[in-house]
Amino acid sequence: MDHFEFRGGELYCEDVPLARIAETVGTPVYVYSTATLERHFQVLRDALTAAGVTGAGGGPPLIAFAVKANSNVAVLATLARLGAGADTVSEGEIRRALAAGVPPEKIVFSGVGKTEAEIAFALKAGVAEINVESEPEMATVSRVARGLGVRAQVAIRVNPDVAAGGHAKIATGKSENKFGVSFAEAERLYAKASNDAGLRPVGVACHIGSQITDLAPMEAAFSKMRGLVERLRAEGMNVERLDLGGGLGVPYFNQPEPPSPADYAAMIARAMKGLDVAFAFEPGRMIAANAGVLVSEVIHVHVRPEGRRFLVIDAGMNDLIRPAMYDAFHDIRPLKPREDEPEVYDVVGPICETGDTFTRDRRLPPLQAGDLIAFMSAGAYGAVMSSEYNSRLLVPEVLVKGDQFAVIRPRPTYEDMLALERPAPWLG
Ligand code: LLP
Repeated sequence: MDHFEFRGGELYCEDVPLARIAETVGTPVYVYSTATLERHFQVLRDALTAAGVTGAGGGPPLIAFAVKANSNVAVLATLARLGAGADTVSEGEIRRALAAGVPPEKIVFSGVGKTEAEIAFALKAGVAEINVESEPEMATVSRVARGLGVRAQVAIRVNPDVAAGGHAKIATGKSENKFGVSFAEAERLYAKASNDAGLRPVGVACHIGSQITDLAPMEAAFSKMRGLVERLRAEGMNVERLDLGGGLGVPYFNQPEPPSPADYAAMIARAMKGLDVAFAFEPGRMIAANAGVLVSEVIHVHVRPEGRRFLVIDAGMNDLIRPAMYDAFHDIRPLKPREDEPEVYDVVGPICETGDTFTRDRRLPPLQAGDLIAFMSAGAYGAVMSSEYNSRLLVPEVLVKGDQFAVIRPRPTYEDMLALERPAPWLG
C-alpha cells in the first residue's frame, strides 16, 4: 500500500497535491512519501517478528536498507529513526548512512570490488560486518585490519547458484554471476578466517537477485544457507549471523504480483525452523519503490502522419533509466486525468537516443503540452541511477510528510554543473 492517491480528480502524495510540488520545484522532480517508506519498513519488520524471525538476543532482525535503492540522506534518516540499518556498497554509501544517523553497528558493507581505502574507512567507522565476496578480498580485509590493529568482523557471501527469475541484468545468485563464493569455498574460507588474526567471521550472507516474485527459488537458496550454518557449526565454528539479502519484488502494476511480506516471513520461518541465529535482511526495492514517483511535464505531443503519437516529456532516460536499461514497466498517471477516451502514446524523453523511450503504445487519458504526469513506483533505483547525460541538470528530490514537503536535494544550477570542471592548462 502507498500514499499516492486521487482526491477530487487530482493525484496527491499524502496530503500534498503533486501539482503543487511541480509548481514550486519545477519538473522533472522525484517525490517520496514518508508514510509509505515508514509503512513498508514496519510491515516487513512486523511480519518477520510475528513469524519468529529474530535478530540478536531474540529482538527484531536487522533490516539493513539497501542504500543503493535510494541513497538520499533524508530518506535514510526517515528509516534510521525507525531502527533501520544500512546495507552499503561503497565509502560514499557508508558516509551517507552515517550522515543519516544509522549507527555503525547496523551498517553492513557489501560489494565485489571494495578498495583497500574503502575497507579501511569501514573498519575505522566500526561497521557491523564486511560481507566478503571472494578469497582475494578476504585477504585484503585481513591485511587492512591487521594494519589498523583490529579484527574485522566478516560474513562470507555465498552464491547459492539458484536462478531467481527476474531480469538477467539484476540476477546475482547464479554461479556465472560475479557475486559471492560457492558453498564449498565458503566452508574453506570460514575455517581460514577463523584462524586469521585480522578476521573474526561472524556469519554468512546471500542475496540472489532483485524484483523476485516467486518464493520458491528463495526458499531453495535459504535452505542451502541453513545447511551451511549447520555444517559450519558442526565443524566447531562460531556462526552468529545469517544475512538473507534483499530481493523481494514489488507490485509494478500490470506485472506479476509479488508475495506479501507475511508470505515471505512465513517461508523464512519454515526454512529456518529451530535455527538459532541472528537474522539480517537487506531490502531496497520493497521499501522504497512504491514510496516514490517521478513527476514530469509534457513538452508537446508529436503526431506522425501515419498516426503514431509521441508524448514528449521533460524527463529523460538520464532521470529514470529503468525502462531503457531493463525494459521496466512503470505505471504512468496524469496528475489531473481528463475523463475523455484514452489515447495511445509512445512516451519519450528529450535525450538524443531511441532508447530514451519510457513506453510504447500506452493507453493514457488524453494529454497536452503543459500537463503533468507521474511515473509510479520510482522511489527505488530512480534518482540514484540518474545522470547529467546530454548535460541535463541532475533531477531534484522532495520528501513529503503529511501536509508538508521539503526539497531534500535541490536541482543544481547550470553554474553548479560547470563549476565541477576545470580548464586544461594548455587550452589557455
Ligand atoms: N543486497 C545486495 C547485496 C544487493 O546487491 C541488492 C541489490 C540488494 C541487497 C537490494 O535488493 P532489492 O531488495 O532492492 O531487490 N537497478 C536495478 C536493481 C539492482 C539491484 C542490485 N542489488 C533495478 O532498477 O531494477
